[in-house]
Amino acid sequence: MVKVIGLAFISASFLCAQSPNISGVWKADLQKSKIAGPPIKGYTAIIEQKPEVFNRRTGEKALAITETAAVTGEHGQFRSVLTFFESDKPVVRPYEGIPTRLTGVAEGNTITVNGDVAGSTRTFKRTYELSNNGQTLTINAVATNHDKERQSTYVLTKQPDSAGEALRAPEKTAEQGFKNVKTALKTLPESQFIDQMRYMAWSLGKDCEFCHVQGHFDSDDKKEKRTARKMIEMAESIDQNHFEGHPEVRCFTCHQQHPHPLSYPLFPDQIKQQQTATARAR
Ligand code: HEC
Ligand code: HEC
Repeated sequence: MVKVIGLAFISASFLCAQSPNISGVWKADLQKSKIAGPPIKGYTAIIEQKPEVFNRRTGEKALAITETAAVTGEHGQFRSVLTFFESDKPVVRPYEGIPTRLTGVAEGNTITVNGDVAGSTRTFKRTYELSNNGQTLTINAVATNHDKERQSTYVLTKQPDSAGEALRAPEKTAEQGFKNVKTALKTLPESQFIDQMRYMAWSLGKDCEFCHVQGHFDSDDKKEKRTARKMIEMAESIDQNHFEGHPEVRCFTCHQQHPHPLSYPLFPDQIKQQQTATARAR
């Protein structure tokens, strides 16, 4: 046992020594950056690096890298948090609300994270490259889905620590930021609420419009949205009453990426039909 702990300690400090120090507050130079998708008005990130327990069973530690980013676009500012370990042993963590398998590798002055999204054909890769003077961080981001590829380059410059204040302050809650939020999700910070929406869509194998009238997220016109509210309350009460408040029963537990959970297994010809339909939808 002593030996195992000793080894874990050595490997953790070994990893720390290898990694470039990309910690700090960074801001994108939009002139130099090339970002796919609709134009953005700003990108600020806080990056933290610290050893954390990587395997709860063995207590093994690895360097955890967390990028908290705020993207300002047409519809205001949204935050996202990406945490990964510098280790080639995969770890599953939610990213944008959806379980994602992540690995991290440091080489020279770069750190690369690879992710693949559970139950989907989507993958991504982000390479953080630190300049020799430590003042510029270039992020190369590639997102793929089937054979489609989207590439972005963010050129970030180092900021004084105080530039991260706004991003460290708590966000508005969903209740404060949106118009018609009634379930227990209302107390979540806005961006975590949106992550929860992405999780629900993913759990049901559908997109936002399955529950929402396009462009009118506050509208309750769709029956599916009204049902989803009851489902949120149901899952919450099962966890409260039967799992001591732990989030054990979630949308995926029953839905498994279908809007209609099954009460008995599919027959072989039905499985075939469904596979054809899924292939067509993707
Ligand atoms: C399974 C149904 C379902 C799916 C899929 C879904 N939502 Fe929702 N959404 C809801 C429900 C239910 C609420 C209201 C929650 C509440 O009352 O606490 C809501 C509320 C919202 C709101 C708040 C609107 C307002 O002003 O009140 C936004 C924004 C939103 N969803 C965005 C999204 C996005 C973006 C997606 C796709 C990534 C999505 N939703 C997918 C069910 C869904
Ligand atoms: C304990 C199992 C269970 C859990 C957990 C669960 N659901 Fe359901 N859900 C069902 C069943 C059963 C149905 C009815 C299926 C049918 O209509 O064929 C259903 C139906 C729905 C429908 C209606 C689908 C339609 O086409 O009308 C929506 C929307 C939905 N669930 C959303 C959710 C969301 C969002 C969550 C997580 C917050 C969730 N469910 C969690 C079992 C569950």
